[in-house]
Amino acid sequence: MIGIGYRKDFSDAFLESSILKPDFIEVAPENWMEIGGFWKQQLKKAVERYPLFCHGLSLSVGSLEGIDIGFVKKVKQFLEDFQVSVYSEHLTFSKVDNAHLYDLLPIPFTQDAINRVVENIKQVQDLLGRRLILENGSYYTVLKAEMSEEDFINEIVKRSDCELLLDVNNVYVNAFNHRYNAKNFITKMPLDRVKYIHMAGHLKVNENLIIDTHGSKIIDPVYELFEFTMRKLKRDIPVLLERDFNIPELSILQAEIDALRKIKKNALKKSKNVALPN
Ligand SMILES: [Fe+2]
Repeated sequence: MIGIGYRKDFSDAFLESSILKPDFIEVAPENWMEIGGFWKQQLKKAVERYPLFCHGLSLSVGSLEGIDIGFVKKVKQFLEDFQVSVYSEHLTFSKVDNAHLYDLLPIPFTQDAINRVVENIKQVQDLLGRRLILENGSYYTVLKAEMSEEDFINEIVKRSDCELLLDVNNVYVNAFNHRYNAKNFITKMPLDRVKYIHMAGHLKVNENLIIDTHGSKIIDPVYELFEFTMRKLKRDIPVLLERDFNIPELSILQAEIDALRKIKKNALKKSKNVALPN
């Protein structure tokens, strides 16, 4: 399955034509769960045609003060109302002392942070009655790290029994900015726990910095990393095309969906026959 982030910017064109044909759509529940009127109708029309996945923005599993239980209950209701099978979030924090920071900030790679995050994840999973699927974020500064990001993620997944959303573009962005090998990083992820993949474009600011903007087309090296990931995974899982800004013609988005579908199919075919070097 290849899906697309369903945006209000293109919902009319999307619903009125069949140019864009994803296998599912993804929304941030926060943007749709307490609405009525026109936009609720637009969501209902979309859900009649496509399965709905949810990707949250404000759970903030990295917050020291713990989880907002009232918020999780609202998300749970939305997931039930729209029969959402896949609910993912970010392995980041966006809230401090109840102040929303409106950004997805990196959690320091420390043992103290792991202990707190694991408790938060377990609490959310108990409330929701399902495993959380958490996304590896992009970050531009490493905060007080006591360990590698790979060890940090592996320990959280193991202790909380959560699952992973592997954002391949985020791996590429971090590997470029922090000068490490993206393929090595992917190889060290708990690949048996990866349930979902994100793919997106980014912005190259200069020779030393790229930013995860979701505002341009996917570049070839990120497609290549996606191919590598699918060959390592050796199984079919859903993939989302994220495009949040500079939305192009729907036919251009469809061409990216077609490219992802083709790469995934070929990679899985190859993975059955050929051992892959690290
Ligand atoms: Fe993502």
